[in-house]
Amino acid sequence: MKRDIVKYGDEILRKVCKNTVNDEVAKNIIEDLKDTLALVENGAGLAAPQIGIDSRVFATRNYRDDKHDEILIFINPKIEEFSKETVVIPDGCLSIPNIFSKTKRHSFVKVSYLDENFNEIKEELSGFQSVVFQHELDHLNGVLFIDLLSEEEKLNVESFLERKKTEPNIAYIEGKVVEINLKTDVKA
Ligand code: CO
Repeated sequence: MKRDIVKYGDEILRKVCKNTVNDEVAKNIIEDLKDTLALVENGAGLAAPQIGIDSRVFATRNYRDDKHDEILIFINPKIEEFSKETVVIPDGCLSIPNIFSKTKRHSFVKVSYLDENFNEIKEELSGFQSVVFQHELDHLNGVLFIDLLSEEEKLNVESFLERKKTEPNIAYIEGKVVEINLKTDVKA
């Protein structure tokens, strides 16, 4: 079932989520994540707290195999090892609409998780799949991409949010405030 996406300011986005157990509840969460992400334009990934659920599971489009119509499920995910090499890339979040900025992520991560059939998987992720995994895993720990910005940019974002109350048709993109009808980047 498609669910509403929880927006910035809701307490659940700040929770450290609970481990997911293999039961009917988990099956429903997985279906809801898939149904919701499938219907989001430019949605790269979606974590359970973003649909109001305190559970360590997230969905992403399949960037690993370059099959973007497919949705992958990551249950109780962990980063086992990460590269020192980092990448600075545009970031955004379905729960924080109209704010886009660059964040620094590990280029490669070795991860473990359970797939949607609760099979144990260990693999190395690279490229955009690695970056989206890191963004979504942060959600399960109550961390949002705007927390990773510089202190100066956090202040910019705060004043943007204040300004947005009276100017609904604006967006924040990498330090600049622009009209909202511009094409924006993918959100996770
Ligand atoms: Co997000």
